[in-house]
Amino acid sequence: MTSDLFDSVPDTGPAREHMAEGAVLLRGHARPLENELIAALHDIVAQAPFRRMVTPGGHQMSVAMTNCGPLGWTTDSSGYRYVQNDPETGKPWPAMPPAFAQLAERAAAAAGFNEFAPDACLINCYEPGARMSLHQDRDEQDFDKPIVSVSLGLPAIFLFGGLKRSDKTRRFRLAHGDVVVWGGPSRLFFHGVAPLADGEHVLLGRQRINLTFRRAR
Ligand code: SIN
Ligand code: FE2
Repeated sequence: MTSDLFDSVPDTGPAREHMAEGAVLLRGHARPLENELIAALHDIVAQAPFRRMVTPGGHQMSVAMTNCGPLGWTTDSSGYRYVQNDPETGKPWPAMPPAFAQLAERAAAAAGFNEFAPDACLINCYEPGARMSLHQDRDEQDFDKPIVSVSLGLPAIFLFGGLKRSDKTRRFRLAHGDVVVWGGPSRLFFHGVAPLADGEHVLLGRQRINLTFRRAR
């Protein structure tokens, strides 16, 4: 049972790192579910393939993206927004797999945010060299729910700053199975990902997958 798997992962001690007020890194938190998560990911990508979206400013992102859940984050020349249908296929985004929703809810609870029910899961695919510049997650209707971010595959350097773009950023290495939760006072902190170093992950090959769970509406 999933709950037994979760219970085998300590959420105190070295597995848990305080990043800022409201922000915590839960090391290895998703590892017990890695096979379920990866199998579900393959099904999602078969229905809603990864694509490199274009920012409102006209830049093609280096990270390829797709979504699952009732709402999916998208960007194009007319802006950033959440939509119910995949603009590429015209069909609803694939359903959020139960293992995804349960992981997000339990990670949020472990970080002190109860009753997190995400309605959006953005799935980011980084190949070596791909990066995400500093930004805030602010396309959601309100900011009272946290962000839950799950890392799978190759390790990455996550940059975590403050409320101002110019605030100093700290670097956290995110490895396969790590989960970052940020909310409350750090919900709008700037964050990004440094260019992905090349490597080969035993389960996912030459890539990093990030699942970002949010309550959009
Ligand atoms: C994001 O901020 O959308 C992605 C964060 C990550 O890939 O770790
Ligand atoms: Fe983000």
